Amino acid sequence: MFHRIEGHESLRSDMDADSLLNPERRMLRIMQTKVKHQWTLEEILDECNWKDQAVAAGAGHGLTNAGFVKTAETSLEIIRLADEGRNAKENGLLEARLWKWFSESSAPNMGDLQSQFERHEAGPGIGLLKRLGVQMNGGFFVSEDPKAVSSEIQARSAFLESLPAAPESLENGMLEHFKSRRGLVESVITTTRTWSITKQGEAIGSEALTEKQSVSDITTELLQSDAWKDADFRPFDVTLESATPRTGRSHPMQALIERVRSIFLEMGFSELVDDYVQTAGWNMDALFIPQDHPAREMQDTFYLENPQSMDLPKHLTDAWGAIHEHGGDTGSVGWGGSFSAETSKKGLLRTHTTVNTIQYLAANPKEACRVFSVDRVFRKEAIDRTHLPEFHQIEGIIMEEGANLQMLVTTLKTFYAKMGYPEVRVRPAYFPYTEPSLEIEVKWRGKWLELGGAGIFRPEVTEPLGISSPVLAWGMGLERLAMLVLGLDDIRQLYISDLEWLRNQPIL
Ligand code: PHE
Repeated sequence: MFHRIEGHESLRSDMDADSLLNPERRMLRIMQTKVKHQWTLEEILDECNWKDQAVAAGAGHGLTNAGFVKTAETSLEIIRLADEGRNAKENGLLEARLWKWFSESSAPNMGDLQSQFERHEAGPGIGLLKRLGVQMNGGFFVSEDPKAVSSEIQARSAFLESLPAAPESLENGMLEHFKSRRGLVESVITTTRTWSITKQGEAIGSEALTEKQSVSDITTELLQSDAWKDADFRPFDVTLESATPRTGRSHPMQALIERVRSIFLEMGFSELVDDYVQTAGWNMDALFIPQDHPAREMQDTFYLENPQSMDLPKHLTDAWGAIHEHGGDTGSVGWGGSFSAETSKKGLLRTHTTVNTIQYLAANPKEACRVFSVDRVFRKEAIDRTHLPEFHQIEGIIMEEGANLQMLVTTLKTFYAKMGYPEVRVRPAYFPYTEPSLEIEVKWRGKWLELGGAGIFRPEVTEPLGISSPVLAWGMGLERLAMLVLGLDDIRQLYISDLEWLRNQPIL
């Protein structure tokens, strides 16, 4: 995407008629018809049949650089009406209007003048009349030589009518008079350019001046036909500044997801991708979230109409039922009450990605593993600066013999350090499915921000699934992290498709 050059000097040093651009050819051809003539811009526009002055100016410039034309510039001073002058020309000079009032009034006095003219005119008006010899006498304005006043005022009006004009053509005294008054006339310098053809210009044969069809856009058609072989390409100046082309790029959220992925992959984790339509059983019961937990209510969880209910193997609902009601064989006392397998089967949109890691563990209870996911979850949240009903979690588990709390904290610290946030702390927290439970906080702009939860799965979670090694688990908000990385105050900015903002985001 380069700008086309029109008579640009850098490429024109080695000048011959061959490299003339079309407008230059046309202009020179026209100028050959009248040698020794000073061509004005108007004449060139007219003869070349151009409307755009810039085309004529460009061609004149190019031809001058090539030595075929000479440019002459003449500066002219012009006296023309300024704002007040245009006003006076339309409505009459103030002294002319006052004089008319004076001439028509039988007893011209101050009160009358002030009632006829506004204050901003009455004041200076009296001054003007005074300088024309009009005096106060016995409370009335009188003029000793009304004829002389009339003719002076007429001369002034005629002067304004004669503008614009060159200063030499104007009467000097009158010009000085108007220059001394504010806003009536002004002097401007205009530069007119004329071109004349040089001997070299005259010498160019008419053949060299026929306009050629030159190619500025290289199209598929041109390249497919053989026409490009003989085509005359317009030159481009690759040194000129040009607009940066807008290219496609990843959405900052997608870029961030890729970044998170690559960090976990680098740390030896495998990625887990799973559905977001799930059962309450896997989303909650398997995680020992009591069936009367408030988060299960409609105001927090999106339950589905279709599928309203999904099948679950009886051995699972039985096992969860035993754990929930009395702790099963784990030594726990459970939550008490009675467990409902029907509640387990309810379809919902997953509220956390722990629903997927727990199923991975259920399918692979014995093999040590490191698994992560970056995926979408749903909660019935009111949208505000820091909440969205649909967001992403960075989920992960480590299951292996000897896994412990220290290892969990180190893993999370390592992750955030790789993300560029070396200051991380953990605080005690509570989740029904982990013991101990942690909150993870990251320091940002001097403040600690909570980014997620973590812990070690409780026996109530692991034992019914046949898991015997400790499982470290965490779930962290991706959008929260995005707010830090992109420096946002409002989480909604991520999803409003503000193109200007998107284009200006740093490449992560
Ligand atoms: N699932 C929890 C949440 O959504 C986070 C978490 C995951 C906590 C794993 C502990 C263990 O906030």
